[in-house]
Amino acid sequence: MSAAPIIFSGIQPTGRKHLGNYIGAIRQYVEGQERGEPAIFCIVDLHAISVAYDPQELRERVYDTTAILLAAGLDPARCILFRQSDVREHTELTWLLSAVTSHGDLNRMHQFKDKSARQRELVSAALFYYPVLMAADVLAYRATEVPVGDDQRQHVELMREIARRFNERFGELLVVPELLIPEVGARIMDLQEPERKMSTSNASEAGTVYVLDEPEAIRKKLGSAVTDSGREVLRGEDKAGITNLIDILAVSRGIDQAAVEAEFAGAGYGDFKKAVAEGVVELLAPVRERYAELRPDEAALEAVLAAGAEKARAIAAPTVAEVREHMGFVPAPL
Ligand code: TYM
Repeated sequence: MSAAPIIFSGIQPTGRKHLGNYIGAIRQYVEGQERGEPAIFCIVDLHAISVAYDPQELRERVYDTTAILLAAGLDPARCILFRQSDVREHTELTWLLSAVTSHGDLNRMHQFKDKSARQRELVSAALFYYPVLMAADVLAYRATEVPVGDDQRQHVELMREIARRFNERFGELLVVPELLIPEVGARIMDLQEPERKMSTSNASEAGTVYVLDEPEAIRKKLGSAVTDSGREVLRGEDKAGITNLIDILAVSRGIDQAAVEAEFAGAGYGDFKKAVAEGVVELLAPVRERYAELRPDEAALEAVLAAGAEKARAIAAPTVAEVREHMGFVPAPL
Protein backbone atom coordinates (compact mmCIF):
# COMPACT_ATOMS: atom_id res chain seq x y z
CA MET A 1 0.00 0.00 0.00
CA SER A 2 1.32 3.44 -0.84
CA ALA A 3 1.54 6.07 1.87
CA ALA A 4 -1.30 8.58 2.26
CA PRO A 5 -0.81 11.66 0.09
CA ILE A 6 0.14 15.05 1.42
CA ILE A 7 -2.26 17.32 -0.43
CA PHE A 8 -1.75 21.05 -0.91
CA SER A 9 -3.66 23.63 -2.89
CA GLY A 10 -4.09 27.38 -2.90
CA ILE A 11 -6.94 29.69 -3.83
CA GLN A 12 -7.06 33.46 -4.29
CA PRO A 13 -9.06 35.55 -1.84
CA THR A 14 -12.27 36.85 -3.37
CA GLY A 15 -15.99 36.57 -2.75
CA ARG A 16 -16.45 36.10 -6.46
CA LYS A 17 -15.45 32.48 -6.71
CA HIS A 18 -17.14 31.00 -9.76
CA LEU A 19 -18.44 27.68 -11.00
CA GLY A 20 -15.06 26.93 -12.63
CA ASN A 21 -13.27 27.32 -9.29
CA TYR A 22 -15.92 25.20 -7.61
CA ILE A 23 -15.95 22.35 -10.12
CA GLY A 24 -12.27 22.41 -11.07
CA ALA A 25 -10.80 22.92 -7.62
CA ILE A 26 -12.99 23.29 -4.51
CA ARG A 27 -14.81 20.01 -5.16
CA GLN A 28 -11.41 18.27 -5.30
CA TYR A 29 -10.35 19.89 -2.00
CA VAL A 30 -13.41 18.51 -0.23
CA GLU A 31 -12.69 15.05 -1.60
CA GLY A 32 -8.99 15.47 -0.79
CA GLN A 33 -9.54 16.03 2.91
CA GLU A 34 -10.72 12.40 3.15
CA ARG A 35 -7.41 11.12 1.74
CA GLY A 36 -4.78 13.68 2.59
CA GLU A 37 -2.55 13.25 5.61
CA PRO A 38 -2.68 16.12 5.91
CA ALA A 39 -4.75 17.99 3.33
CA ILE A 40 -3.65 21.62 3.38
CA PHE A 41 -5.55 24.53 1.79
CA CYS A 42 -4.19 28.04 1.67
CA ILE A 43 -5.88 31.34 0.91
CA VAL A 44 -3.19 33.08 -1.05
CA ASP A 45 -3.41 36.73 -0.05
CA LEU A 46 0.24 37.30 -0.99
CA HIS A 47 -0.55 36.27 -4.56
CA ALA A 48 -3.47 38.71 -4.59
CA ILE A 49 -1.16 41.74 -4.43
CA SER A 50 0.44 40.86 -7.77
CA VAL A 51 -2.29 42.84 -9.56
CA ALA A 52 -4.10 46.07 -8.60
CA TYR A 53 -6.04 45.56 -5.35
CA ASP A 54 -7.58 47.51 -2.48
CA PRO A 55 -5.72 47.11 0.85
CA GLN A 56 -8.91 48.03 2.76
CA GLU A 57 -10.64 45.05 1.26
CA LEU A 58 -8.00 42.34 1.32
CA ARG A 59 -8.84 41.05 4.79
CA GLU A 60 -12.56 40.96 3.97
CA ARG A 61 -11.95 38.99 0.80
CA VAL A 62 -9.94 36.43 2.77
CA TYR A 63 -12.95 35.97 5.08
CA ASP A 64 -15.25 35.65 2.05
CA THR A 65 -13.13 32.83 0.65
CA THR A 66 -12.73 31.14 4.03
CA ALA A 67 -16.51 31.11 4.46
CA ILE A 68 -17.02 29.78 0.91
CA LEU A 69 -14.59 26.92 1.52
CA LEU A 70 -16.15 26.00 4.85
CA ALA A 71 -19.62 26.23 3.30
CA ALA A 72 -18.50 23.92 0.50
CA GLY A 73 -17.54 21.29 3.04
CA LEU A 74 -13.98 21.86 4.22
CA ASP A 75 -13.79 20.88 7.85
CA PRO A 76 -10.99 22.37 9.99
CA ALA A 77 -10.96 19.14 11.98
CA ARG A 78 -10.01 17.20 8.87
CA CYS A 79 -7.82 19.63 6.96
CA ILE A 80 -5.49 22.57 7.53
CA LEU A 81 -7.03 25.80 6.26
CA PHE A 82 -4.92 28.93 6.61
CA ARG A 83 -3.98 32.34 5.24
CA GLN A 84 -0.71 32.45 3.31
CA SER A 85 0.62 35.69 4.83
CA ASP A 86 0.32 34.21 8.34
CA VAL A 87 3.15 31.79 7.56
CA ARG A 88 6.26 33.82 6.73
CA GLU A 89 8.15 30.77 5.57
CA HIS A 90 6.34 31.11 2.22
CA THR A 91 8.00 34.43 1.44
CA GLU A 92 11.43 33.35 2.64
CA LEU A 93 11.30 30.14 0.62
CA THR A 94 10.22 32.10 -2.47
CA TRP A 95 13.49 33.99 -2.43
CA LEU A 96 15.56 30.88 -1.75
CA LEU A 97 13.89 28.97 -4.60
CA SER A 98 14.38 31.87 -6.98
CA ALA A 99 18.05 30.83 -7.07
CA VAL A 100 17.07 27.63 -8.89
CA THR A 101 14.28 29.14 -11.01
CA SER A 102 15.05 30.02 -14.59
CA HIS A 103 14.12 33.50 -15.75
CA GLY A 104 13.36 32.03 -19.17
CA ASP A 105 10.85 29.60 -17.65
CA LEU A 106 9.05 32.42 -15.85
CA ASN A 107 8.93 34.36 -19.09
CA ARG A 108 7.17 31.48 -20.79
CA MET A 109 4.28 31.26 -18.31
CA HIS A 110 0.94 31.75 -20.10
CA GLN A 111 -0.64 33.36 -17.07
CA PHE A 112 2.10 35.98 -16.86
CA LYS A 113 1.77 36.75 -20.55
CA ASP A 114 -2.02 37.05 -20.35
CA LYS A 115 -2.18 39.02 -17.13
CA SER A 116 0.69 41.36 -17.99
CA ALA A 117 -0.91 42.15 -21.35
CA ARG A 118 -4.10 43.14 -19.53
CA GLN A 119 -2.49 45.38 -16.89
CA ARG A 120 -3.28 48.98 -17.63
CA GLU A 121 -0.80 50.44 -15.18
CA LEU A 122 2.05 48.63 -13.51
CA VAL A 123 3.14 45.15 -14.54
CA SER A 124 4.57 44.23 -11.14
CA ALA A 125 7.59 42.05 -10.49
CA ALA A 126 5.22 40.17 -8.16
CA LEU A 127 3.20 39.07 -11.19
CA PHE A 128 6.38 37.69 -12.73
CA TYR A 129 7.33 35.96 -9.47
CA TYR A 130 3.85 34.54 -8.90
CA PRO A 131 4.87 30.98 -9.93
CA VAL A 132 7.89 31.00 -7.59
CA LEU A 133 5.63 31.83 -4.65
CA MET A 134 3.33 29.02 -5.77
CA ALA A 135 6.28 26.64 -5.79
CA ALA A 136 7.23 27.76 -2.28
CA ASP A 137 3.62 27.20 -1.11
CA VAL A 138 3.68 23.58 -2.17
CA LEU A 139 7.33 22.62 -1.60
CA ALA A 140 7.36 23.97 1.98
CA TYR A 141 4.96 21.15 2.90
CA ARG A 142 6.66 18.47 0.81
CA ALA A 143 3.23 17.93 -0.71
CA THR A 144 2.80 14.94 -3.01
CA GLU A 145 -0.45 16.01 -4.73
CA VAL A 146 -1.64 19.38 -5.99
CA PRO A 147 -5.34 19.50 -6.96
CA VAL A 148 -5.97 22.34 -9.41
CA GLY A 149 -7.89 23.17 -12.57
CA ASP A 150 -6.31 22.83 -15.99
CA ASP A 151 -5.17 26.47 -16.15
CA GLN A 152 -2.62 25.80 -13.38
CA ARG A 153 -0.97 22.89 -15.18
CA GLN A 154 2.02 24.91 -16.36
CA HIS A 155 2.61 26.37 -12.89
CA VAL A 156 2.64 22.90 -11.34
CA GLU A 157 5.05 21.66 -14.01
CA LEU A 158 7.33 24.57 -13.17
CA MET A 159 7.27 23.82 -9.43
CA ARG A 160 8.23 20.22 -10.25
CA GLU A 161 11.17 21.53 -12.23
CA ILE A 162 12.17 23.88 -9.39
CA ALA A 163 12.10 20.99 -6.89
CA ARG A 164 14.19 18.79 -9.19
CA ARG A 165 16.71 21.53 -9.79
CA PHE A 166 16.97 22.28 -6.06
CA ASN A 167 17.53 18.61 -5.26
CA GLU A 168 20.22 18.28 -7.92
CA ARG A 169 22.06 21.37 -6.77
CA PHE A 170 21.69 21.15 -2.97
CA GLY A 171 20.80 17.53 -2.16
CA GLU A 172 17.57 15.50 -2.10
CA LEU A 173 15.37 17.48 0.21
CA LEU A 174 12.26 18.57 -1.62
CA VAL A 175 9.43 16.43 -2.93
CA VAL A 176 8.44 16.64 -6.60
CA PRO A 177 4.64 16.95 -6.40
CA GLU A 178 2.09 15.36 -8.73
CA LEU A 179 -0.54 17.37 -10.56
CA LEU A 180 -4.14 16.35 -9.82
CA ILE A 181 -6.69 17.49 -12.40
CA PRO A 182 -10.32 16.34 -12.40
CA GLU A 183 -11.36 14.07 -15.27
CA VAL A 184 -14.43 16.16 -16.00
CA GLY A 185 -14.63 19.88 -15.35
CA ALA A 186 -10.90 20.77 -15.30
CA ARG A 187 -11.70 23.64 -17.62
CA ILE A 188 -15.16 25.15 -17.30
CA MET A 189 -15.78 27.64 -20.06
CA ASP A 190 -17.48 31.04 -20.10
CA LEU A 191 -21.20 30.64 -20.87
CA GLN A 192 -21.23 33.55 -23.31
CA GLU A 193 -17.86 32.86 -24.93
CA PRO A 194 -17.34 29.12 -24.66
CA GLU A 195 -13.92 29.32 -26.32
CA ARG A 196 -12.62 31.13 -23.21
CA LYS A 197 -12.33 29.70 -19.74
CA MET A 198 -14.66 30.99 -17.06
CA SER A 199 -12.59 33.47 -15.09
CA THR A 200 -12.88 36.22 -12.50
CA SER A 201 -10.74 38.67 -14.35
CA ASN A 202 -11.46 38.63 -18.06
CA ALA A 203 -14.83 37.09 -18.74
CA SER A 204 -18.30 38.49 -19.17
CA GLU A 205 -20.56 38.91 -16.15
CA ALA A 206 -23.40 37.06 -17.93
CA GLY A 207 -21.05 34.21 -18.84
CA THR A 208 -19.80 33.65 -15.29
CA VAL A 209 -21.82 31.84 -12.63
CA TYR A 210 -20.67 32.78 -9.14
CA VAL A 211 -20.84 30.34 -6.25
CA LEU A 212 -22.86 32.97 -4.34
CA ASP A 213 -25.32 33.75 -7.16
CA GLU A 214 -29.02 33.55 -6.27
CA PRO A 215 -30.91 30.71 -8.00
CA GLU A 216 -32.71 33.21 -10.24
CA ALA A 217 -29.42 34.63 -11.48
CA ILE A 218 -28.11 31.14 -12.16
CA ARG A 219 -31.25 30.25 -14.16
CA LYS A 220 -30.95 33.44 -16.17
CA LYS A 221 -27.26 32.94 -17.00
CA LEU A 222 -27.75 29.32 -18.03
CA GLY A 223 -30.91 30.15 -19.96
CA SER A 224 -28.94 32.57 -22.12
CA ALA A 225 -25.83 30.38 -22.44
CA VAL A 226 -24.46 30.36 -25.98
CA THR A 227 -24.96 27.05 -27.82
CA ASP A 228 -24.72 26.40 -31.58
CA SER A 229 -26.96 26.12 -34.61
CA GLY A 230 -27.33 22.33 -34.28
CA ARG A 231 -29.86 20.48 -32.13
CA GLU A 232 -28.02 17.48 -30.70
CA VAL A 233 -26.98 17.35 -27.05
CA LEU A 234 -23.62 15.79 -27.85
CA ARG A 235 -20.00 16.68 -27.18
CA GLY A 236 -17.99 17.83 -30.18
CA GLU A 237 -15.09 19.97 -31.39
CA ASP A 238 -17.41 22.51 -32.96
CA LYS A 239 -19.85 22.40 -30.05
CA ALA A 240 -17.91 24.21 -27.32
CA GLY A 241 -21.01 25.62 -25.60
CA ILE A 242 -22.96 22.35 -25.44
CA THR A 243 -19.86 20.37 -24.49
CA ASN A 244 -19.30 22.74 -21.56
CA LEU A 245 -22.92 22.42 -20.43
CA ILE A 246 -22.70 18.62 -20.63
CA ASP A 247 -19.62 18.71 -18.39
CA ILE A 248 -21.36 21.04 -15.94
CA LEU A 249 -24.46 18.85 -15.68
CA ALA A 250 -22.40 15.65 -15.42
CA VAL A 251 -20.46 17.06 -12.46
CA SER A 252 -23.53 18.60 -10.83
CA ARG A 253 -25.34 15.29 -10.84
CA GLY A 254 -22.28 13.11 -10.23
CA ILE A 255 -22.80 11.09 -13.45
CA ASP A 256 -20.65 10.77 -16.56
CA GLN A 257 -20.98 12.77 -19.75
CA ALA A 258 -22.31 9.84 -21.81
CA ALA A 259 -25.18 9.43 -19.37
CA VAL A 260 -26.10 13.10 -19.89
CA GLU A 261 -26.01 12.64 -23.66
CA ALA A 262 -28.19 9.51 -23.43
CA GLU A 263 -30.74 11.24 -21.21
CA PHE A 264 -31.09 14.21 -23.55
CA ALA A 265 -31.02 12.36 -26.88
CA GLY A 266 -33.78 13.95 -28.93
CA ALA A 267 -34.46 16.73 -26.42
CA GLY A 268 -34.20 20.39 -27.47
CA TYR A 269 -31.50 22.77 -26.25
CA GLY A 270 -34.10 24.71 -24.26
CA ASP A 271 -35.04 21.76 -22.05
CA PHE A 272 -31.44 20.74 -21.71
CA LYS A 273 -30.40 24.21 -20.54
CA LYS A 274 -33.22 24.21 -17.97
CA ALA A 275 -31.95 20.90 -16.61
CA VAL A 276 -28.39 22.25 -16.39
CA ALA A 277 -29.66 25.31 -14.54
CA GLU A 278 -31.48 23.13 -11.99
CA GLY A 279 -28.39 20.95 -11.59
CA VAL A 280 -26.24 24.00 -10.84
CA VAL A 281 -28.83 25.51 -8.49
CA GLU A 282 -28.87 22.25 -6.52
CA LEU A 283 -25.08 22.15 -6.47
CA LEU A 284 -24.58 25.73 -5.30
CA ALA A 285 -27.68 26.64 -3.27
CA PRO A 286 -26.57 24.75 -0.14
CA VAL A 287 -23.15 26.43 -0.33
CA ARG A 288 -24.72 29.90 -0.60
CA GLU A 289 -27.07 29.22 2.31
CA ARG A 290 -24.33 27.93 4.56
CA TYR A 291 -22.11 30.85 3.54
CA ALA A 292 -24.78 33.28 4.70
CA GLU A 293 -24.69 31.65 8.14
CA LEU A 294 -20.90 31.54 8.42
CA ARG A 295 -19.75 34.82 6.87
CA PRO A 296 -21.00 37.26 9.55
CA ASP A 297 -18.93 35.68 12.33
CA GLU A 298 -15.50 37.04 11.45
CA ALA A 299 -14.07 36.14 14.85
CA ALA A 300 -14.90 32.49 14.21
CA LEU A 301 -13.39 32.63 10.72
CA GLU A 302 -10.26 34.29 12.13
CA ALA A 303 -10.02 31.54 14.76
CA VAL A 304 -10.14 28.85 12.06
CA LEU A 305 -7.39 30.61 10.09
CA ALA A 306 -5.22 31.19 13.16
CA ALA A 307 -5.42 27.55 14.22
CA GLY A 308 -4.67 26.51 10.64
CA ALA A 309 -1.64 28.81 10.45
CA GLU A 310 -0.17 27.31 13.58
CA LYS A 311 -0.42 23.80 12.15
CA ALA A 312 0.92 24.95 8.79
CA ARG A 313 3.91 26.68 10.36
CA ALA A 314 4.79 23.55 12.30
CA ILE A 315 5.26 21.77 8.95
CA ALA A 316 6.76 24.56 6.85
CA ALA A 317 9.31 25.89 9.36
CA PRO A 318 11.43 22.72 9.60
CA THR A 319 11.49 22.40 5.78
CA VAL A 320 12.67 25.97 5.33
CA ALA A 321 15.26 25.50 8.10
CA GLU A 322 16.66 22.52 6.19
CA VAL A 323 16.62 24.42 2.91
CA ARG A 324 18.59 27.24 4.55
CA GLU A 325 21.11 24.82 5.92
CA HIS A 326 21.59 22.99 2.61
CA MET A 327 22.04 26.30 0.84
CA GLY A 328 24.83 27.31 3.20
CA PHE A 329 23.10 29.70 5.58
CA VAL A 330 23.44 29.57 9.33
CA PRO A 331 20.29 28.49 11.19
CA ALA A 332 17.68 31.23 11.35
CA PRO A 333 17.75 33.23 14.60
CA LEU A 334 14.60 32.64 16.64
P1 TYM B 1 -7.45 30.84 -8.27
O1 TYM B 1 -8.11 31.30 -7.01
O2 TYM B 1 -7.35 31.77 -9.41
O3 TYM B 1 -8.16 29.53 -8.78
C1 TYM B 1 -8.51 28.52 -7.86
C2 TYM B 1 -8.62 27.19 -8.58
O4 TYM B 1 -9.68 27.22 -9.54
C3 TYM B 1 -9.22 26.62 -10.75
N1 TYM B 1 -9.96 27.23 -11.87
C4 TYM B 1 -10.71 26.54 -12.76
N2 TYM B 1 -11.01 25.23 -12.86
C5 TYM B 1 -11.83 24.85 -13.89
N3 TYM B 1 -12.36 25.71 -14.78
C6 TYM B 1 -12.08 27.04 -14.72
N4 TYM B 1 -12.63 27.90 -15.60
C7 TYM B 1 -11.23 27.51 -13.68
N5 TYM B 1 -10.77 28.73 -13.31
C8 TYM B 1 -9.99 28.54 -12.22
C9 TYM B 1 -7.74 26.95 -10.78
O5 TYM B 1 -7.05 26.05 -11.63
C10 TYM B 1 -7.35 26.79 -9.33
O6 TYM B 1 -7.05 25.43 -9.02
N6 TYM B 1 -2.55 30.12 -8.78
C11 TYM B 1 -3.67 29.50 -8.04
C12 TYM B 1 -3.57 29.73 -6.57
C13 TYM B 1 -2.38 29.08 -5.91
C14 TYM B 1 -2.06 27.69 -5.84
C15 TYM B 1 -0.87 27.60 -5.05
C16 TYM B 1 -2.63 26.53 -6.36
C17 TYM B 1 -1.43 29.73 -5.19
N7 TYM B 1 -0.53 28.85 -4.67
C18 TYM B 1 -0.27 26.36 -4.79
C19 TYM B 1 -2.01 25.31 -6.09
C20 TYM B 1 -0.84 25.23 -5.31
C21 TYM B 1 -4.98 30.01 -8.64
O7 TYM B 1 -5.11 30.03 -9.83
O8 TYM B 1 -6.00 30.34 -7.82
